[in-house]
Amino acid sequence: ESGLKGTHFLDFSGWTAHEMHAVLALANELKQKRAKGEPTPYLQGKTLAMLFDKASTRTRVSFEVGMYELGGHALFLSNQMTQVGRGEPLADTARVLSRYVQGIMVRTHAHANVEELARYSTVPVINGLTDDHHPVQVLADFMTILEHKGRLRGLTLCYVGDGNNMAHSLLQAAALVGMHIRIASPHGYEPRADIVQQARRRAMPAHSEVTVTEDPYAAAKGADVIYTDVFTSMGQEQEAEKRLLDFAGFQVNQELLGLADQDAIFMHCLPAHRGEEVTEEVLEGAQSVVFDQAENRLHAQKALLVALMSDHS
Ligand code: CP
Ligand code: NVA
Repeated sequence: ESGLKGTHFLDFSGWTAHEMHAVLALANELKQKRAKGEPTPYLQGKTLAMLFDKASTRTRVSFEVGMYELGGHALFLSNQMTQVGRGEPLADTARVLSRYVQGIMVRTHAHANVEELARYSTVPVINGLTDDHHPVQVLADFMTILEHKGRLRGLTLCYVGDGNNMAHSLLQAAALVGMHIRIASPHGYEPRADIVQQARRRAMPAHSEVTVTEDPYAAAKGADVIYTDVFTSMGQEQEAEKRLLDFAGFQVNQELLGLADQDAIFMHCLPAHRGEEVTEEVLEGAQSVVFDQAENRLHAQKALLVALMSDHS
């Protein structure tokens, strides 16, 4: 029993370590059952509305397939195709959708949009990426780390790149489970100070360290996981040229990966820009687990959906 039924999932700040481990255990169970062809109709008759204000391959497909495999249904709603795109307030949209569906997943720009939907929705709202957080990705990432390393607590994760959504969700989740985390970002692209502070506070009981630095090479030293993401996120396309210059020296290449633990894994949420934040050699190399991460989106999110939308635990 995870105690998550009926709650929203906007970021990891409201979660306990116990809830995280419960969802990851359920994800693993669902993955095993799927491999054996065992049906898992825990969301029979239930529908998830999926509001997309940004592009997506993994998030859309994994949530849609996940709902289908749980015996439920998913609705893909792109903003331009709904009245949201014509200015209908999110507060109204949330109340209307709540009368039809049992869950709402949303991918949008401002995190405040997701908070607004959650405030007015009477069914669970799931954050499928905002400018500030990408928690469903990190759920799959931690499942992947657990599979490759056998534990989370006490490991060291080094994130190299923009201190935005991925960095924030990794910070929150690492602090929750007692994983050491080092964020290496160029000056001006550091993670938000309040999120770093919150992670430091939450990391205290497990004595795990939260480090923010401008030196990717120092951050990578001895790490168990090297993680990166694009220099230019969705919605920042007009800054792409400037970012390419500002992020010089923050590429994950064989030299940087070589500073990590010899059994370190390389992670990326995808899509990747080969030759920018990561070299082809590292992305396609033996230490890369990027497609395991992508696969685990399906299993981890199925577990999340079951935890939030059903009595099954
Ligand atoms: N990693 C991720 O969220 O991928 P999509 O943008 O394809 O959904
Ligand atoms: N930081 C990236 C992640 C994409 C999955 C973005 O927001 O575009």
